[in-house]
Amino acid sequence: MGRYLVTGGAGYVGSHTVLALLDRGDEVVVLDDFSKGHREAVPTSARLVDGRCEDPRARAEAFGGGRFDAVLHFAALSLVGESMQVPLRYMAENLSALAAVADAAVRHGCRKLVLSSTAALFGYPERIPIDEEQRLGPVSPYGESKLMCERALDWAEKIHGLRFACLRYFNAAGADPAGRAGEDHEPESHLIPLAIDAALGMRPALTVFGTDYDTPDGTGVRDYVHVADLADAHLRVLPLLDERSVRYNLGNGTGYSVKQVIEAVERVGGRPVPHTLGPRREGDPATLVASSARLRAETGWNPRFPGLDEIVKTAWDWRVKHPKGYAGAQRAA
Ligand SMILES: NC(=O)c1ccc[n+]([C@@H]2O[C@H](COP(=O)([O-])OP(=O)(O)OC[C@H]3O[C@@H](n4cnc5c(N)ncnc54)[C@H](O)[C@@H]3O)[C@@H](O)[C@H]2O)c1
Repeated sequence: MGRYLVTGGAGYVGSHTVLALLDRGDEVVVLDDFSKGHREAVPTSARLVDGRCEDPRARAEAFGGGRFDAVLHFAALSLVGESMQVPLRYMAENLSALAAVADAAVRHGCRKLVLSSTAALFGYPERIPIDEEQRLGPVSPYGESKLMCERALDWAEKIHGLRFACLRYFNAAGADPAGRAGEDHEPESHLIPLAIDAALGMRPALTVFGTDYDTPDGTGVRDYVHVADLADAHLRVLPLLDERSVRYNLGNGTGYSVKQVIEAVERVGGRPVPHTLGPRREGDPATLVASSARLRAETGWNPRFPGLDEIVKTAWDWRVKHPKGYAGAQRAA
């Protein structure tokens, strides 16, 4: 049994990873400022520290209870569009949160950190699928901020011996298959929950941004990876950090277009998804699909929920049971 600090553990991917750690018997401390996350998403068996990564008092409280085997750092600002409005805030906050947490880890004798990184590091990719050898060239301040975090970790390793895993997620999607957690972002910017809410009549028609891309049906193609499979990847990279630092692209390796996602939601939910067709958004590449061959080969990771319909089904089931998201929910035991 290990002891882990999960920053941003009340958020979407973080809370599912907290469940995976608790399920295997680990002890978990969550550090979250609840700017986006939900207290109700974290079971009572995890200790909650309410505060910002950048706040020395919050860090002292989080790190004060004993040595961690590793820190899993999910906390970040993560809206690409918002980052185009407030670029310096994204760069400053995402780097300072990572640097503060990595520094505290080193000072408290913890030498392992997992960073939530992103496909946005690659900007407009040169080849599909995107493997780890591709040129890094973010086209948003959000992507740039994560690249700065990755580079900071190189220095932390060189100078302090901090081992790290940078996991470049593609599109996280779905909900805990046991129904204990789901996706509840405000504002919501992800396609699957937006399509589900449109189908359920809980928000206006969905806008499809761009229908003239160089893709089979003209709409953008993305790689949707189930959030429980993302959580599993975190557990699998931890033992590698005894030996070395790693970087992995993390996706299913299959691309689905916006149109295919809409059709999947309609199949799973049995209702139409009202939608309108709009122009492209700046900064959206036509296709983003990961090669996770390196992760698979080196950790044995193999997604349990690779199919689009099964991903959508878990998201649909959670949303139908939680139409208001976490509002009014209780923390589970
Ligand atoms: N969701 C995706 O598809 C996706 C894709 C690629 C990368 N990522 C990265 O994965 C991570 C998690 O994403 P998510 O979708 O779960 O986001 P999220 O917003 O649901 O979760 C982030 C959590 O961190 C907390 N937080 C933010 N800044 C903080 C700070 N300074 N101090 C303490 N807590 C803070 C928020 O309250 C929230 O609970 C992020 O780093 C994001 O950039 C997500």
